[in-house]
Amino acid sequence: MRSHYCGEINESLIDQEVTVCGWVHRRRDHGGVIFIDLRDRSGLVQVVYDPDAEEVFARAERVRNEFVLRCRGRVRHRPAGTENEHMPTGQVEILGLDLEVLNRADTPPFMLDDDTVSEEHRLRFRYVDLRRPEMLQRLQLRSQITREFRSFLDEHGFLDIETPMLTRATPEGARDYLVPSRTHEGAFFALPQSPQLFKQLLMMSGMDRYYQIVRCFRDEDLRADRQPEFTQLDIETSFMDEEAIMGLMEDMLRRVFAHVLEVPLPEPFPRMSYAEAMLRFGSDKPDLRIPLELVDVGDLMAEVEFKVFSAPANDPKGRVAALRLPKGGELTRKEIDDYTKFVGIYGARGLAYIKVNDIEAGRDGLQSPILKFLPDEAVSGILERTGAQSGDLVFFGADKARVVNESLGALREKLGHDRGLLERGWKPLWVVDFPMFEWDEDSERWTALHHPFTAPREDHLERLHSDPGNCLSRAYDMVLNGSEIGGGSMRIFRKEVQQEVFHNLGISDEEARDKFGFLLDALKYGCPPHGGIAFGLDRLVMLMAGAPSIRDVMAFPKTQTAACLLTEAPSVVTEAQLRELHIRLRPKK
Ligand code: AMO
Ligand code: AMP
Repeated sequence: MRSHYCGEINESLIDQEVTVCGWVHRRRDHGGVIFIDLRDRSGLVQVVYDPDAEEVFARAERVRNEFVLRCRGRVRHRPAGTENEHMPTGQVEILGLDLEVLNRADTPPFMLDDDTVSEEHRLRFRYVDLRRPEMLQRLQLRSQITREFRSFLDEHGFLDIETPMLTRATPEGARDYLVPSRTHEGAFFALPQSPQLFKQLLMMSGMDRYYQIVRCFRDEDLRADRQPEFTQLDIETSFMDEEAIMGLMEDMLRRVFAHVLEVPLPEPFPRMSYAEAMLRFGSDKPDLRIPLELVDVGDLMAEVEFKVFSAPANDPKGRVAALRLPKGGELTRKEIDDYTKFVGIYGARGLAYIKVNDIEAGRDGLQSPILKFLPDEAVSGILERTGAQSGDLVFFGADKARVVNESLGALREKLGHDRGLLERGWKPLWVVDFPMFEWDEDSERWTALHHPFTAPREDHLERLHSDPGNCLSRAYDMVLNGSEIGGGSMRIFRKEVQQEVFHNLGISDEEARDKFGFLLDALKYGCPPHGGIAFGLDRLVMLMAGAPSIRDVMAFPKTQTAACLLTEAPSVVTEAQLRELHIRLRPKK
């Protein structure tokens, strides 16, 4: 069909005859000469048809945007003064000798270079949207990244093994997507939230090192970095401890960043305990590019008259924290009100602040709705501890620790972005020493912070019964620029420990048997110590591509309401199909 890709046509081909295939990006009529910018995956090339060749010219005249053509012609220099520095093929053009319309096209639903098109419209016509060079580059980058991962893992002896999609629920904290069984009336498969249990079973089978680039399904509330189906780079190893696993994973990421982006990542990656991350950043995935930190001031507030502060300061589950914003004195009343609304999303009931106009002037140099409640010692303590300077502003959060962490943690990130405080570059971080369990106020029981197969620290085994809240796990998360890009752990490999953890999670022996009997059995028949990790591939590609959302690095993503606009899935099915599946729909109210 073709001799070259469009983007390959350059001065080395002058005077040669070439054949290119592609889409009409633009057609211009210039005083009897027709210019066609022909586009394929590799780029654009200009093909010129002049009226001398009458029949071919007549065909070129009828060509419209997005027609699919095959063009034969001779490469020549562009006339002096008409070169285009911005195009790789901009020094040359093809003098068209022949033109074949392989297919016509209706007027496209939008122009490729129109950046005012709504995302909804782009998703509905995704095949057109993906013709945009930006989208193409992102998918190329994604392919390059997965290739690098595979080559690293292949070199290190990992086997690529597939695991089932029609399976039982694996608890990762989201709702399952269910698939009704035709052959087993009333029974359902679950699509995997992750291959967690299968990869553990593969270790019990002696596969030693496993990986898979695998689709996972989670029916949860969607955000810019969450999709109902997404891809993990899923990894599991035997006879390696967390030090060895984390070291190898760092090597892998350093290699991928070096090869794909030519960026050196630090060696080793810094590490931080979960407790420290919550204390300093109010988040277990802190963006270390933002130079703002939370500071505890509860001890200074324990005695103040203002109940809003003194109550959480005296509550073991409460927290009172301050966040200094350098030059925050510039904030207008309206901006502060908007930030107060913003923290409200996270349940904060207010956002107290002190504006530091003049640090030397004592109370007179300060401006704050809460100043009247604060004795001198508290004020000076706050200023000293936060390191406040003239011109700064200090925000406060006082509530249950969870609310303070979530609201001030989110405020910290927002201020970082709004105020342009982000340092450039890449800041990876391991977060370690997670608690095994988290107390869920609603259901009044312990839930797993990672998943129920994560091993407790050996020296905390005793705490499984004596003090579950302070039992730390052998889990590790990888964070990059404020995104959780991977999470993993050493796994429980002794049956008794697994049963105990189920017990703590309020899973009865009966339920454990019913849901995870196969795992408990497998643990009996020779289970090696094992551990692993899974990376969110879409998130990682999003960060590496500098894309605003993971939707932009997926070929066919879903919308915020978990629908595919292109195929209009999900959709209704026929009564006959439902009957086969033993399903009767409830009438709509
Ligand atoms: P976890 O639940 O932390 O761990 O998932 C691993 C990584 O997958 C990404 N991720 C998502 N990406 C896009 N959309 C989603 N809805 C979504 N949910 C998660 C995140 C996350 O860090 N089985 C364990 C791994 C293990 O223990 O080995 C697991 O699935 O980047
Ligand atoms: P009020 O007495 O309710 O007017 O609150 C005085 C100041 O404290 C206001 O700036 C509120 O935004 C702030 N505030 C109220 N509740 C909290 C809270 N839980 N945490 C931080 N600031 C608060």
